[in-house]
Amino acid sequence: MSEQPRLVVLASGRGSNFQAILNAIKQQRLAATLGAMISDRAGAGALELAANQDVDTVCIEPRHFSGRDDYEKALMTAIDGFAPHWVVLAGFMRVLGANLVHHYLGRMINIHPSLLPRHRGLNTHRRVLEAGESDHGASVHFVTPALDSGPVIAQVRMRVAEDDTADTLADRLLPLEHRLYPATLALLLDHRVELRDEDICIDDQTIAAPLRLGRDLDDDGRLVRPGER
Ligand code: GRF
Repeated sequence: MSEQPRLVVLASGRGSNFQAILNAIKQQRLAATLGAMISDRAGAGALELAANQDVDTVCIEPRHFSGRDDYEKALMTAIDGFAPHWVVLAGFMRVLGANLVHHYLGRMINIHPSLLPRHRGLNTHRRVLEAGESDHGASVHFVTPALDSGPVIAQVRMRVAEDDTADTLADRLLPLEHRLYPATLALLLDHRVELRDEDICIDDQTIAAPLRLGRDLDDDGRLVRPGER
């Protein structure tokens, strides 16, 4: 039997997206192994979740390093120690430098709580309300040097209700993120997806727009062809 692809997940916070990915692996919806959970914060809930479920953990805090370059060298060494096929950012709250990003180009992905390219950066839920938008969502994208700007593989969408607040938007979006991330990973692990310059190719065809969960992509990462919708 061939070796399963190995993931390393990076998280700074509570780790609910990490848990969703781990659940998908445990339930055999995602044919992968989890190499490690790596965090930049000793108090991150994600580290505790991982340790309680026998996933290797590493914590590398920036305050122990003289600057970003040193920190990122140590981070890369830690990640590479697990020889991951994919590096998965799940609420990792650091802007990564170009060296590190180039090292993992085409095999590092991130989930962002907005319909990119709208609302890069922080406070996305509040900014959706301020802009008076009627829809919101989350995006999984390849990581490139510019923040939240890499090509988007897949998105999930939801309607904004009149009485939504930033908190209710975040609460309603999170369960959708927990479906989107494992589904996108399942698609990636199926070797169908490739980053070519700024384009995303699936089965050698460039996609014109991000895949939409529930329309183009099902929860198990299978592509839904137009005739099957
Ligand atoms: C999620 O909303 C994710 O989109 C963003 O950070 C949050 C992380 O949440 N990048 P969790 O730690 O996975 O619960």
